[in-house]
Amino acid sequence: MRAQIVAIAVSVLAQAASAAVEAKNVIYVIPDGWGPASQTLARDLQGLIESGTNRTNPIIGKLAVDDMVNGLVRTYSANRLITDSAAGGTALATGHKTNNGWVGVTPDRRPVGSILEAAKLAGLGTGLVSTTAITHATPGAYSAHTVDRNNQNLIAEQQLGRVHPLGSVVDVLLGGGRCNFLPQGAEGSCREDDIDLYAYAEELGWSVARNRSEFDEFERGLGAARLPILGNFASGDMRLEIDRREVQDEPSLLEMSQTAVQALHRATHCKDKGYFVMIESAKLDTSGHAGDVPAHAVGTWHFNEVMKWLSEWIDEHPDTILISSSDHETGGLTLVGNYDPTPAFEARHTANFLANKWNGRPEDADSRQFLVDEILPYYALTDAMEGEIEELLETDDMEDTLTMMLSQRVGAEWSTGGHSAIDVTLFSYAAGDKRRELQADLARNWNNIEIPRYIEEVLGLDMDSVTELLQEAAEEDDSWLGDRLD
Ligand SMILES: *[C@@H]1O[C@H](CO)[C@@H](O)[C@H](O)[C@H]1NC(C)=O
Ligand SMILES: *[C@@H]1O[C@H](CO)[C@@H](O)[C@H](O)[C@H]1NC(C)=O
Repeated sequence: MRAQIVAIAVSVLAQAASAAVEAKNVIYVIPDGWGPASQTLARDLQGLIESGTNRTNPIIGKLAVDDMVNGLVRTYSANRLITDSAAGGTALATGHKTNNGWVGVTPDRRPVGSILEAAKLAGLGTGLVSTTAITHATPGAYSAHTVDRNNQNLIAEQQLGRVHPLGSVVDVLLGGGRCNFLPQGAEGSCREDDIDLYAYAEELGWSVARNRSEFDEFERGLGAARLPILGNFASGDMRLEIDRREVQDEPSLLEMSQTAVQALHRATHCKDKGYFVMIESAKLDTSGHAGDVPAHAVGTWHFNEVMKWLSEWIDEHPDTILISSSDHETGGLTLVGNYDPTPAFEARHTANFLANKWNGRPEDADSRQFLVDEILPYYALTDAMEGEIEELLETDDMEDTLTMMLSQRVGAEWSTGGHSAIDVTLFSYAAGDKRRELQADLARNWNNIEIPRYIEEVLGLDMDSVTELLQEAAEEDDSWLGDRLD
């Protein structure tokens, strides 16, 4: 009898210990295509620059995210050891593995509910923020279901609820991808039909912004900008931060994140139900594919700024928790040999931006002069040797030659132009005592599909019932899942 009571007490305690932390709001941040070496590179560069030291007597700084490291995440997909963003996003959003290229649908072509959809159905506010097209694979996985990530026009329609069986599931959509919302024939459209999704959204009462100046107006009228909000600030992808901060024609990820979090907070803070928002630092992946050291470091600093701002927001709003992990690493970055990133600090643009500038140089320009005056100083190669200048003048891929040259100088080796299989870092933040509780829960190696299950527990949601609704709809008619494109 006594033993039985003790056993029951122990099991109750064990249950209490295994329950997730309680929170009203969850913010999930995805630094897309980003791994442990990315963090080292950005931290070292910051430390060396701030302290004025070098690799033989380094004083190394600290990033805000260094204090938020909490575990590791395995990223393999249903059909590959190396995932893409569609399968990676689907795992983090829905808790199901799928094939590379598939969005919110399992390999047997059945739609599965996401944590964002479950949040919406339970009455929470929902948001997606990204520096790529908002219709791209990662935000798509939280808000749409299609067998091919390239069906971005269809993803746009699903995000606004035009063809989604549950209607619109997102209250805030901020990112690039304007071309997917414009009808064919309109300037800058990439649709192949006459559907005007801006007209559709405005008719249903969405607050819409199509460029930086409309975003600013929106911000000035903050109290008035009502949910739902749709903002697209580039035709497709937005700029990488290193270019954006020079050109200044798009809001930054930090600005978009602040708008999303503040708008969702305003809409929910008087209610019992909070919000779920996914924020994607998408262009880290692009700089990883390109092997662009300064772009990757500056992008990482900006991701770090976003995480720092969110942690400070959470200190003021302790009913909110932050969890973050990449969907996969990109570039297979290693830091070796005479590794010292200091010279990369002088760069002011991506190699891609400069290659476009190079290809668009005036026909009568002196190539060597143009290279020396207009390209090299903006990519930290002012002191290029004669042999290097010759190589750059002769290359037929300026972006690739620039990135290889600078990577070699700083000791950064990119082992692939694609993604890698390595585990990615899990970060978390919560205020006060909740922080230790959350860290204790998360301190381990996770399979990516377990992450949304944890958030489900935190917010008291039910993704499986969303899956049932979606699969019922698909059994009647699954044309809304689109087709594989070749
Ligand atoms: C690095 O710093 C040390 C100490 O200030 C100095 O002696 C050394 O010359 C520096 N090395 C380089 C490569 O600049
Ligand atoms: C922003 O978009 C609005 C509406 O399409 C347009 O009237 C305005 O000229 C645009 N502003 C800029 C700076 O492109």
